[in-house]
Amino acid sequence: MGWQGPKGKPRPVDPWPRLAYFSPMTIKPIITLPDEKILRQHSTPLKAVDEAARKLFDDMLETMYDAPGIGLAAIQVGVPLRQIVIDISREGEAPKPLFLANPEIVWASDARSDYEEGCLSIPDFYEMVERPAEVKVRYLDRHGEAMEIHANGVMATCLQHEIDHLNGVLFIDYISKLKRDRVVKKFQKAGKLGRL
Ligand code: NI
Repeated sequence: MGWQGPKGKPRPVDPWPRLAYFSPMTIKPIITLPDEKILRQHSTPLKAVDEAARKLFDDMLETMYDAPGIGLAAIQVGVPLRQIVIDISREGEAPKPLFLANPEIVWASDARSDYEEGCLSIPDFYEMVERPAEVKVRYLDRHGEAMEIHANGVMATCLQHEIDHLNGVLFIDYISKLKRDRVVKKFQKAGKLGRL
């Protein structure tokens, strides 16, 4: 998910503590509209959270912090695997990265909430989206341990937005057709002009 920050200013990139056991990270190019062919793919579950998966997690985190954003799915860097990274910590707070493999929504509240969403694959476009206000998500962490998170607020929105990416769903799928057509056309035009 994209991040507007206070008054629409992009969030400055916090220095991320580089722990010794992390491999060197690589910032990967983020796939954006109009490249829907990749973004609409259905991602495959991981068989195991191995070294390759951890390396991808680290690269995704570095890429997300650099963007900057608060959530990123592997397909957004062109890898069709069910891995997402999230960090909703605020400017000035210690980074709190969350690594999720094979995440699954196991419960969603009837209560719904609105949040102005953005997406690193649809730069500079924000729109209100209504989703369940609370969710429970089961996943494997970066060590392959089975975990469950019960989230509300921004975290609930972010989890749903990123899990959607794994199923080829974009947040613009929830807005009116008129608005969606307008933004897709804008990116198609920009793509033809080679500006993306
Ligand atoms: Ni997104």
